[in-house]
Amino acid sequence: MQVTPDWLARLPKTELHLHIEGTLEPELMFALARRNGVALPYPSVEAARAAYDFSALQSFLDLYYAGASVLLTEQDFYDLTAAYLLRCRADRVVHTEIFFDPQTHTARGVPYATVLSGIRRALADAQAQFGISSKLILCFLRHLSEQDGFATLREAEPYLDLIDGVGLDSSEVGHPPEKFFRLFARCKALGLPRVAHAGEEGPPEYVWQALDLLDVCRIDHGVRALEDPALVAELIRRQIPLTVCPLSNVKLKVFERLADHNLRALLEAGLVATINSDDPAYFGGYVGENWRACTEALALSRAELTQLAINGFRGSWLSRPEQERWIAEIEAMTA
Ligand code: ADE
Ligand code: ZN
Repeated sequence: MQVTPDWLARLPKTELHLHIEGTLEPELMFALARRNGVALPYPSVEAARAAYDFSALQSFLDLYYAGASVLLTEQDFYDLTAAYLLRCRADRVVHTEIFFDPQTHTARGVPYATVLSGIRRALADAQAQFGISSKLILCFLRHLSEQDGFATLREAEPYLDLIDGVGLDSSEVGHPPEKFFRLFARCKALGLPRVAHAGEEGPPEYVWQALDLLDVCRIDHGVRALEDPALVAELIRRQIPLTVCPLSNVKLKVFERLADHNLRALLEAGLVATINSDDPAYFGGYVGENWRACTEALALSRAELTQLAINGFRGSWLSRPEQERWIAEIEAMTA
């Protein structure tokens, strides 16, 4: 059967790889800069957008951390998250699992509780108003020390019931998962589910380390796993989802063009691949645009798109009955 824009728009979707700081659109960045009296390195919204031309992950991260400097108050984090959730509603994202980077904010003197409270309040409103369910994942910055990560975890401990798990992000190469072995062991002892960015720019060895040393239940990106057949077999054996971010991968030059992306190859290998947006304000597309662009560039079939949608729910932290409910709706659209 043909893939129509309407069918794709109506398909229930998840987002399992989204950095809330990466949803800061230049318009909101400028509005918050004005509200908070923060100076920005760009003269205008247009100049900011024009600067989003990246050579690799690090050149993006430099602007991403600079942009986050306008986020100071609980209301700022609320406004940021609420704006993202409106995009979810437009794209029929019915469940989202959101990363936040507390170290980016606490290092500037913004209390952890301020960040957490603003994001949580927006998530609760979206559940009540739009029926969008969500999880929240605290990400440790891997370019910082494990000791710094431990300090962040200590700050988070009074509010552990307000997060659903932990992750690992920021500059990958040179900061292998093994650097955070003890921190993740402590998170495991606290009962926190774990994920990690691995195999975006880093080698398959980093994916092995995330699995074996950090005991993660999902790999964020993981596109380089295909270079290692034994790793592919292990990811399939353990049914580890990969949170693939196609437009991000093109913007950060992991693949030259979307038509070169290995998303179909991941699916054909039997991996639990999912579609996500990563940092949509910087990479030029939210979830819906990632689905549309991949469908076109890779000529994805209705069966492949259905599999990707089901993988999103299977890979999520929704309860099994909640997963089944959405999967039944997807299957009814395909029958
Ligand atoms: N932080 C925000 N986006 C990221 C990405 N794509 N990889 C690593 N760290 C990130
Ligand atoms: Zn990411």
